[in-house]
Amino acid sequence: MTYKKANHVASFRFELQHTDPNTGARAGQWHTPHGIVDTPAFMPVGTLGTVKGLLPEQLKAAGAQMVLSNTYHLALRPGADVVEELGGLHQFMNWSGPILTDSGGFQVFSLAKLSKLTDDQVVFRSHIDGSLLELSPEKAIRIQEQLGADCIMCLDECPPHDVGQDRLRAAVQRTTAWAARCRDAQKRDDQALFGIVQGGIDPHLREESAEGLLPLDFPGYAIGGLSVGEDPNDMYKTLDFTTPFLPVEKPRYLMGVGKPVDLLESIIRGVDLFDCVMPTRNGRNAMAFTSNGPVKIRNAKYQRDVTPLDPDGPSEVGRIYSRGYLRHLFVAKEMLGAILLSWHNIAFYENLVREMRQAIFENRSAEFRADQLARWGSDP
Ligand code: GUN
Repeated sequence: MTYKKANHVASFRFELQHTDPNTGARAGQWHTPHGIVDTPAFMPVGTLGTVKGLLPEQLKAAGAQMVLSNTYHLALRPGADVVEELGGLHQFMNWSGPILTDSGGFQVFSLAKLSKLTDDQVVFRSHIDGSLLELSPEKAIRIQEQLGADCIMCLDECPPHDVGQDRLRAAVQRTTAWAARCRDAQKRDDQALFGIVQGGIDPHLREESAEGLLPLDFPGYAIGGLSVGEDPNDMYKTLDFTTPFLPVEKPRYLMGVGKPVDLLESIIRGVDLFDCVMPTRNGRNAMAFTSNGPVKIRNAKYQRDVTPLDPDGPSEVGRIYSRGYLRHLFVAKEMLGAILLSWHNIAFYENLVREMRQAIFENRSAEFRADQLARWGSDP
């Protein structure tokens, strides 16, 4: 079968600027209709059209270049029609930079009550009101075209990590077939549609998945099905054998990952893009990432601690606000606590990938990783 030319019209271009010869870590620039993204890049998660607790200005000040949002959640509420009517996602959420939307597949499998999964589509019950809904590859593309993000994702099947080989292979085959349907369904030419490689931690299935997707000539490829409960070393090994299957000249996105250490380990293995709820979710739960490792700010030992949260770190919040004050905000259930730690953690993540990018240009990505791990201690 021949496919129309890949949808990277003039407004999309991935420029691979440098690869660290010692590791394979890559620095690049991804040109999108809403601006340039320096890679490696971390996308904060704005599931419902908001990165929880943060204004777009605060996100930008924290160094975020691109954000992620979710088809599944926005299609349920307020509805893709409503977002489209209100000008599309950029205008709706007042974010002028690039946006990526996930296709809904992963969220249907993880959040909704599955009713029926066939090769044609997935039928599920909304986690909000229990209503019965259908999602097919064509529908996932239609919704994402209505939302209007710069980068959109194919509908995929992401099975739990502990399923058997047969189920895993079936999910790869379905994901490949759905990717072809997504490609055919795409009408807009100003959105980069990414294929998603599945296959668990099995090298043969990952290869089969990549081989099925590469002829579709997507402008970028995501690696899905990781950080779903497997051992982190299995995730790193899977990246070791999966990234070589992917085209060198296209962006690679590791979905839903991860902890700071996971970002560094994955960048070393040739990944360019990341998203994860961890900085904001942990921030709301009173956990801060700092230059010297994580801090649980509710701990009683911080009650009279005048030290700033992270005096030598990259975030303004970390340099200004004392641990004692931040602890007080959480103990008193003041919403500013969650806002400040979300902001701080995003700044920490953004600075981490920015410094890693610089290290890549200087061929010292392995040293940078080692230095950071030594600073963070046992639970980075
Ligand atoms: N988010 C985290 N993992 C995945 C995945 O495997 N597929 C999709 N669509 N989204 C994800």
